[in-house]
Amino acid sequence: MSHKSEDMSGDILKVLLTEQQLKDKVNEMGAAIARDYAGRRPMFLGVLKGCFVFMADLVRAADIRCDLDFMCVSSYGAGTTSSGVVKINLDLRGDIDGRDIIVVEDILDSGRTLSYLRSYLQGKGAASIAIATLLDKPDRRVADVKADYFGFVVPDEFVVGYGLDYAEEYRNLPYIGVLKPEVYTS
Ligand code: IMP
Ligand code: MG
Repeated sequence: MSHKSEDMSGDILKVLLTEQQLKDKVNEMGAAIARDYAGRRPMFLGVLKGCFVFMADLVRAADIRCDLDFMCVSSYGAGTTSSGVVKINLDLRGDIDGRDIIVVEDILDSGRTLSYLRSYLQGKGAASIAIATLLDKPDRRVADVKADYFGFVVPDEFVVGYGLDYAEEYRNLPYIGVLKPEVYTS
């Protein structure tokens, strides 16, 4: 039997970050990036699918000439433990040799995905690689990765919304929240 409610928001135990908090923070992040990259033309590289809402807001908050690209990656490995090897499901379209790259992620958790991606981009000749993540869970870090831009530090709880999913659902919630426990067990 399903313990899911009719609407998505009925499955949310508590709201962690409201739409307004997200908006204010992402605007700050965009302004900081625009300042730091003034006179350059960075490439925002979104990590799909989780980045899509954050990236759309972030690039509109950065008044700067830029290029956009996306990669879609998933980690190999059984269950919830990733091996650190990342499978590339959608690769870069263009050449990034000599480019300043800003990798855009929804959440930095173990850091395995971004650690892998960073080496991958270095190997393709990127001039610089910065990491912009909306959320950071430093308690869970395994790989040596730090965000250059982050929105919020979150506790070690599984969060959904604003691009983040649980089993591919809840990405379209406009805020970030924690699911009711019965949703995981249904
Ligand atoms: P990492 O390689 O462990 O840093 O994994 C980062 C990826 O794990 C993110 O891009 C998310 O797709 C996923 N992830 C980690 N924590 C959460 C969470 O709390 N909610 C939803 N997805 C998460
Ligand atoms: Mg995910």
